[in-house]
Amino acid sequence: MAVFLHLPLFTAFLFSLFLLHHHRVISEPTQDRQALLSFISQVPHASRISWNSSDSACSWIGVTCDSTNTSVIYLRLPGVGLVGQIPPNTIGNLTQLRVLSLHSNGLTGGVPSDFSNLAFLRSVYLQDNMFSGGFPSSLSNLTRIMRLDLSGNKFSGDIPFSINSLTQLTGLFLQNNNFSGQIPSINPGGLVEMNVSNNQLNGSIPRSLSRFPVSAFSGNINLCGNPLPPCNNTFFPSPTPAPSSIEPPPLGKKSKKKLSTGAIVAIAVGSALILALLLLILLLCLRRKKKQQSKQPPKPPLPASTAASRSVAEAGTSSSKDDLTGASAEGERNKLVFFDGGIYSFDLEDLLRASAEVLGKGSVGTSYKAVLEEGTTVVVKRLKDVAVTKKEFESQMEILGKMKNENVVPLRAFYYSKDEKLLVYDYMPAGSLSALLHGSRGSGWTPLDWDHRMRIALSAARGVAYLHVAGKVVHGNIKASNVLLRQETNKDASVSDFGLNSLFSVSSSPNNRVTGYRAPEVLESRKVTFKSDVYSFGVLLLELLTGKAPNQASLGEEGIDLPRWVQSVVREEWTAEVFDVELMRYQNIEEEMVQLLQIAMACVATVPDQRPAMQEVVRMMEDMNRVETDDGMRQSSDDPSKGSDGHTPPTETRNSPNTVTP
Ligand SMILES: *[C@@H]1O[C@H](CO)[C@@H](O)[C@H](O)[C@H]1NC(C)=O
Ligand SMILES: *[C@@H]1O[C@H](CO)[C@@H](O)[C@H](O)[C@H]1NC(C)=O
Ligand SMILES: *[C@@H]1O[C@H](CO)[C@@H](O)[C@H](O)[C@H]1NC(C)=O
Ligand SMILES: *[C@@H]1O[C@H](CO)[C@@H](O)[C@H](O)[C@H]1NC(C)=O
Ligand SMILES: *[C@@H]1O[C@H](CO)[C@@H](O)[C@H](O)[C@H]1NC(C)=O
Ligand SMILES: *[C@@H]1O[C@H](CO)[C@@H](O)[C@H](O)[C@H]1NC(C)=O
Ligand SMILES: *[C@@H]1O[C@H](CO)[C@@H](O)[C@H](O)[C@H]1NC(C)=O
Ligand SMILES: *[C@@H]1O[C@H](CO)[C@@H](O)[C@H](O)[C@H]1NC(C)=O
Repeated sequence: MAVFLHLPLFTAFLFSLFLLHHHRVISEPTQDRQALLSFISQVPHASRISWNSSDSACSWIGVTCDSTNTSVIYLRLPGVGLVGQIPPNTIGNLTQLRVLSLHSNGLTGGVPSDFSNLAFLRSVYLQDNMFSGGFPSSLSNLTRIMRLDLSGNKFSGDIPFSINSLTQLTGLFLQNNNFSGQIPSINPGGLVEMNVSNNQLNGSIPRSLSRFPVSAFSGNINLCGNPLPPCNNTFFPSPTPAPSSIEPPPLGKKSKKKLSTGAIVAIAVGSALILALLLLILLLCLRRKKKQQSKQPPKPPLPASTAASRSVAEAGTSSSKDDLTGASAEGERNKLVFFDGGIYSFDLEDLLRASAEVLGKGSVGTSYKAVLEEGTTVVVKRLKDVAVTKKEFESQMEILGKMKNENVVPLRAFYYSKDEKLLVYDYMPAGSLSALLHGSRGSGWTPLDWDHRMRIALSAARGVAYLHVAGKVVHGNIKASNVLLRQETNKDASVSDFGLNSLFSVSSSPNNRVTGYRAPEVLESRKVTFKSDVYSFGVLLLELLTGKAPNQASLGEEGIDLPRWVQSVVREEWTAEVFDVELMRYQNIEEEMVQLLQIAMACVATVPDQRPAMQEVVRMMEDMNRVETDDGMRQSSDDPSKGSDGHTPPTETRNSPNTVTP
């Protein structure tokens, strides 16, 4: 009975003993051997690859095992007449492979998808075969690859951005294929050798690759940018060339003729008078040449060949020269200037070829949403009618670039040239307060609930106060479309487009174009101030309370602005009429609405000195919020499980002893 019971155990013991024994003595990469045999039996090859199945796989030609002979780590079969496709479950099974060299064969088809199992692969030599299909996606997971040679095949399609997951890459060889499209911004830091020549690539060369020689890019359809000649601008319309009336062809032809006749006369007579004439002509010619040089319109805003080699500092020194000479060729040496602590690393060329979508045409220019190839999304604001010199522009940018606050949309970079002034901001996918309040009310639209409005108002107030206090920057363009929502709920909103007024002439500055939010005194003084910001912010609060756009005609009387309208309604008879009907569904918020209305009315006082400072506005709003927070009333909106309606706090909180009612 006992023996019977222990019999299975005994056999198990014997079996494991056998395994151990087998392992020690034969020491053969059994699974890899099977995969290799499977490979060689399916792929026709030259006869010198005669893997004798009675030998150890580790002794086969082209096969190298690790020190314990448990797995194959190198497979080198170059130029052995392999033809046809690599079958699945063969080389892809060699999971410990470090080096794979199959170059100079006749392999066809795609690289099998099970190559993604080869996680330890360091070197891949597949060049000079007849592989086809897209860039092998199974390789883009193999993050240890250092050297990847796919050259001399028939690969086609895009070079994927996912190449960047090969962070160890030092050599990338894609030449002599049929890759098309643009070169992605490939930037493994250690890349020392790279070649994409003789493909069908077009577009601009990413800055990360501009250090490689011309021969690494030659033989493509239409590549441009450093180290090749600069690109034509594809993102923005190319800057309008200088007025054509300046073109001097008649003068040019004349002086050329004069030169030749002058020379003949000089030879004939050789007098001092003619010499003087020659001198004069020479001078004329020189002048003409100079003129032509300066009139040549800059085709792309940035010739990368000059920009990349210059530092920001160098570009800065040229700016003073620009200011003196007006528009000179020096101006083209500008580049995208990033502020410290930024999170982006792209260049103007990347930006110019990003896919762009117009977000809006505002008072200062057009905003684009630009999606860069690597997936980064930024907002590019293209300023129009900038009326300051480069130096003034740069010094204002320096101030604005320092504004870093969670309620302020950071300015990340700027670009200034004679023809183009660009600002780069973070993209806020959640949209603007304006869209949320007045956007199209299709399906999926939910009215902005009271809590959310309060939080947006407070966070926007904090942003403006930060600009005023920390940066001494007047926002100058406060309006609902410049209050952008953040997705992180605790930050709520940020203000954008601040501090741009000083870049424009008085008549075209944004605050003078935007009615509705403009403080009455700005109409005359044409200058925005901290107090005019407070007025604009007051209008914004009224907009949140009433749900009416300040420049909207539906305010009853024509030509009446929102503050006057609210005042008139309130004066005549205190009714709930002023408030947004959407807010009527929430209970127990009247008191807060009235408090906020009082703050708003203080902000829109006609006399600037009667308006509170922005930091006081913040404090008043915080005070009013604190009462509610202590009540526990604010909880509901933080809880996504609760709908936007049914904002009904328990009655006992209303009557709780710590309720402070001013
Ligand atoms: C390759 O690996 C797969 C999965 O591990 C296995 O099913 C298959 O039999 C292997 N092929 C060879 C030839 O070893
Ligand atoms: C394989 O090797 C064995 C001995 O190791 C040898 O007898 C046999 O001839 C070899 N077969 C071939 C095809 O070379
Ligand atoms: C591994 O295989 C090779 C080739 O068959 C052999 O020379 C070597 O002794 C083996 N090493 C071990 C540790 O088994
Ligand atoms: C390779 O990456 C893809 C996604 O790109 C993923 O689904 C797959 O699991 C990865 N494979 C390996 C072996 O890491
Ligand atoms: C290269 O790709 C283009 C399409 O991008 C195709 O028309 C052409 O035939 C291909 N050339 C070769 C040699 O495969
Ligand atoms: C590059 O070529 C593709 C077609 O192969 C075309 O769709 C694309 O617009 C071209 N891009 C540029 C910048 O020329
Ligand atoms: C790139 O490849 C082409 C074609 O093979 C060759 O002529 C050129 O010299 C290579 N350039 C570099 C930098 O390797
Ligand atoms: C730039 O545009 C001009 C004319 O618009 C054209 O002749 C030239 O080939 C273009 N250059 C590039 C690199 O696309």
